[in-house]
Amino acid sequence: MFIYQKDFSQGKIGLRIVGKIIVSTGRGGTGKSTFVALFTRYVDSHSILLIDLDPDESLADMLGVDMGKEGKKTVSDALYDIIEENKRSGQTGHKPLSDLLGHMIKGGDCLYKGGKFALISLGKKLTVGCYCDADDIIKSVIPELAQDYEEVVVDSPAGLEHLNRKITPDIDDLFVILDPSEKSTKHIERIKYVAKGVKISYKHFYLVGNYRFNEQTEEYLRDTGETYLGKIDYDPAVREYNLKGKSLLELPENSPASLSVKKILEKAGYKTNV
Ligand SMILES: Nc1ncnc2c1ncn2[C@@H]1O[C@H](COP(=O)(O)OP(=O)(O)O)[C@@H](O)[C@H]1O
Ligand SMILES: [Mg+2]
Repeated sequence: MFIYQKDFSQGKIGLRIVGKIIVSTGRGGTGKSTFVALFTRYVDSHSILLIDLDPDESLADMLGVDMGKEGKKTVSDALYDIIEENKRSGQTGHKPLSDLLGHMIKGGDCLYKGGKFALISLGKKLTVGCYCDADDIIKSVIPELAQDYEEVVVDSPAGLEHLNRKITPDIDDLFVILDPSEKSTKHIERIKYVAKGVKISYKHFYLVGNYRFNEQTEEYLRDTGETYLGKIDYDPAVREYNLKGKSLLELPENSPASLSVKKILEKAGYKTNV
């Protein structure tokens, strides 16, 4: 999405990019991160910001990025370091903490910048059962960071707490990755219910079947009345690459998962790489 904005220093109207917000959601292990990795590979864009909200931090691995080696902290680790530093120096207060962390994220301490994409990971829970602080901070930083990218893609953890807590701002495209279990299909209603309850808006609600669907179970998705984009075919190479820690950006072009995601993106109106 582009908006015109007045550039006061130059006294003229300039063109500014405002990121399109894309979210991949679904139950645990359905293939959300795999979808995000292949989305990143095939969408025709050179400025994608990826936000990994899952504490398992698998997205970086799938993209062949070693955040530690790149000298990048997760948001939770950076927050922890600030808290420890504040304790040492005797400083307290929430406001300076969030300001400081926001500054660190934007400054690059937590932000990996590659060629086509940039990546931030929320990281592990700070204290057992709660990573509210890191959530809050990432929530406040997303809209600001989004201004620098054409697409902002959020890889969600299992469950809908992030929707509940409204970490993601209003969404353009919400991709729901489903498996054929009954619970997963109930998930469709649940997402809509939660989103409505907390007033999250989305422009498009897209269903994607995962590799466990077959022709027969796929019929259900066609009959939901929602926009069904197709399924991601089973691909042994995805498993093998994940096990070996190989980047999914190197999957063969004609691998079943690559071809499926490309088709799905095109159906959703995205321009893809040839
Ligand atoms: N198209 C596919 N074919 C075969 N295995 C897949 C496919 N997509 C994902 N997987 C496997 O399923 C597991 C979960 O995938 P992942 O993308 O990490 O799910 P999530 O992010 O939803 O937890 C991984 O072991 C991955 O290798
Ligand atoms: Mg994941």
